[in-house]
Amino acid sequence: MKILVAYYSETGNTQKIAEAIFDAIDVEKECKSIQDITSVEGYDLIFFGFPVQMHSVPTKAAVFMGQIQAGQKIAFFSTHGSLRGGQLPQQALEHAVSLAAKLKVFGHFNCRGKVNPKIIDALEKDPVNKAWAEEARGALRHPDEHDLEDARIFAREMRSKV
Ligand SMILES: Cc1cc2nc3c(=O)[nH]c(=O)nc-3n(C[C@H](O)[C@H](O)[C@H](O)COP(=O)(O)O)c2cc1C
Repeated sequence: MKILVAYYSETGNTQKIAEAIFDAIDVEKECKSIQDITSVEGYDLIFFGFPVQMHSVPTKAAVFMGQIQAGQKIAFFSTHGSLRGGQLPQQALEHAVSLAAKLKVFGHFNCRGKVNPKIIDALEKDPVNKAWAEEARGALRHPDEHDLEDARIFAREMRSKV
């Protein structure tokens, strides 16, 4: 069995989750940023992680997903500033799943990730973003050890499903 842990991460939060997933898997495996990936063929399972941006999937992450072959087994993970279990990050994951219509989605995981305060200051000027921006200020210590442990549990669950 061969597993790829692929991630897009701008400030390192999603990368931390990718590394926790990678550590928890005990098969042949690779962990790479999407910018270093030349081929997505030959994997029994691909974990793919991205940061939620503007309540959705960042364009670079969506482009990467478009390169994955139909029928590929995939498990998503994402980090976001707003509260875990909230509606907005859930929407982003659902969007990722809808982009992946041709893929076999095995599951998804999400947790909070700290947000650059300058980004919050800029984004909360728009009333559309005000609610999540307030929440996002509370994400400063994430991902924390609990998030990393939850990611490891998720990784083992996905691996045993394949
Ligand atoms: C331009 C931009 C837009 C963002 N939009 C959202 C958002 O809509 N909802 C949210 O919960 N977090 C949002 N965030 C916060 C990121 O999702 C969060 O900080 C994430 O953990 C960053 O992951 P990274 O370090 O892997 O890039 C945004 C961050 C940036 C920079």
